[in-house]
Amino acid sequence: MRWTEKYRPKDFKDIIGNGKQKKEVEAWVKNWKEGNPQQCLLLVGPAGTGKTTFAHVIAKEFSDSIELNASDKRSYDIIMNTVGESATTKSFFTTDNEHKLIILDEVDGIHGNDDRGGTRAIGKIIKESVHPIVMTANDFYSKRLTTIKTKCKVVKIGKIHTNSVNALLKRICFKEKIKADPQAIKELAKRSNGDMRSALNTLQVIADDSKKLTLDDLESVSQKDNTNNIFDSVRRVLKSKSIDKVKNSLRLDEDPTFVMEYIAENIPREYEKPEEIKKAYEMISQADLYFGRAQQSRNYTYWRYASEFMGVGVAISKDETYKKFTRLTGAMAFALMGRTRGKRDLRDRIALKMSEKLHMSNSVAISMFPYMEIMFENDDLAWDISNYLLLEDDEIKRFRKRKIPKSVVTRKEKEREEELAIERAKYKNSFNENIQTSPGTLAFDSNSNEELNESDEVINSSKSTKSSKPRKSEKEKINDKTSKDSEEEKQSKEESREEESREKSKEEKSKEEKSKEVKKDNAQKSLFNF
Ligand SMILES: Nc1ncnc2c1ncn2[C@@H]1O[C@H](COP(=O)(O)OP(=O)(O)OP(=O)(O)O)[C@@H](O)[C@H]1O
Ligand SMILES: [Mg+2]
Repeated sequence: MRWTEKYRPKDFKDIIGNGKQKKEVEAWVKNWKEGNPQQCLLLVGPAGTGKTTFAHVIAKEFSDSIELNASDKRSYDIIMNTVGESATTKSFFTTDNEHKLIILDEVDGIHGNDDRGGTRAIGKIIKESVHPIVMTANDFYSKRLTTIKTKCKVVKIGKIHTNSVNALLKRICFKEKIKADPQAIKELAKRSNGDMRSALNTLQVIADDSKKLTLDDLESVSQKDNTNNIFDSVRRVLKSKSIDKVKNSLRLDEDPTFVMEYIAENIPREYEKPEEIKKAYEMISQADLYFGRAQQSRNYTYWRYASEFMGVGVAISKDETYKKFTRLTGAMAFALMGRTRGKRDLRDRIALKMSEKLHMSNSVAISMFPYMEIMFENDDLAWDISNYLLLEDDEIKRFRKRKIPKSVVTRKEKEREEELAIERAKYKNSFNENIQTSPGTLAFDSNSNEELNESDEVINSSKSTKSSKPRKSEKEKINDKTSKDSEEEKQSKEESREEESREKSKEEKSKEEKSKEVKKDNAQKSLFNF
């Protein structure tokens, strides 16, 4: 068993470092548990500092949790189906007081290629969910977080102090019966640079079998562990003509196509002669071909050839090395170029969203594009469909030239907000009711139109007694706000909402009928079931 798992903290008190942040997180949990919904919690910080661990410890404080991998696109559908949409129309609480924690780990993803829809989905979840959400990310400045972080309570998790890492390593050495040189432990703590995961992994690699740790052991490991940083590699390719050096520098823990983009981006910054630049780009284009082939055939031995071209090929394209300092940049321009050239990508992205939502193959989805264009002529329908499929602006543009008018967007969003307000009021009410009937728990089905009070069902629980006291003022607050007034308001809102939605669905149905007639196609009849 990996020691990172074996020694993963089970409780807040086991998490080392970040004392202030820990308090903030604990307060956030406490608030939720006392019936004060909080903003989504976003834990941002470097690798191996305990973000995922925090999320799991928090999960234990709630009655249930779902964890989704944010870099896996399918996750968004799961979220939208189980949380995003239903959270706003249906309660998750079988018993009140019980919250389902949603964990979205690593929301900044890996390289964020075509996953822009993900950011939008996350934004939607944050806005609409009535459940506590914890997200984690490494890079505070990631583009993916720009909009997300404004809607979250951001807690920055810092590197763990060397002394704390040192102390924990000592404890683990003791438990694992490792004879460790204190200097070696100190050195390992220092080298881990605040990353507890790396400290634990290194310790396990060295000492799991040998049961000893010395400074010499540490040296031998660090020589093997020479993964390069991407900028070092790019610099080496551009600055060197030594084949071995260049080959070595490309032994990177990175997606090689990403490295290629970095090299391509920086060629004209370093190379000055036009013929060198031309030669170097020819090498890049060869590498690109091999990457394409590797991807198509799923035969990744082609990567080796690609690496030769983008590394050695680019390196030897120059006559001699330049004695100058070049500021290297990220692969932005190249990535943008990639995007504009990617009409096919756009098509595939949309097809993927449709196929996942509507359970059809990509090619059937693509064959529906002409019908989509017809449906998108109608502003309301365009909004509904894009909202349902979580289409991005550029994806919407594929089906209609004009943007959806702002007035339509505002109206639609307002309608959605109203639905949400009703749900939130319901949630607060039910929380309130639960306190009143305490000790007890509440089960209600918010899909039903019955009065909440009538559908309450009191069942035994010992949970709520514990916390009923400090909640009293909160209870009164909620009482004041949400008793009779909000009941009536809610009911009338609900009635008018239902009326509207009946109207709307009639209207939509007739529109759908029309577009169906035009193309005499019955297939999409039941597809968009808003
Ligand atoms: N603050 C901490 N206290 C104790 N152990 C820790 C701490 N942070 C990390 N660890 C150890 O390192 C392992 C990995 O930590 P975790 O998965 O929480 O890191 P992370 O911050 O989510 O990293 P990443 O950004 O790479 O996802 C844990 O299983 C645990 O063993
Ligand atoms: Mg993590």
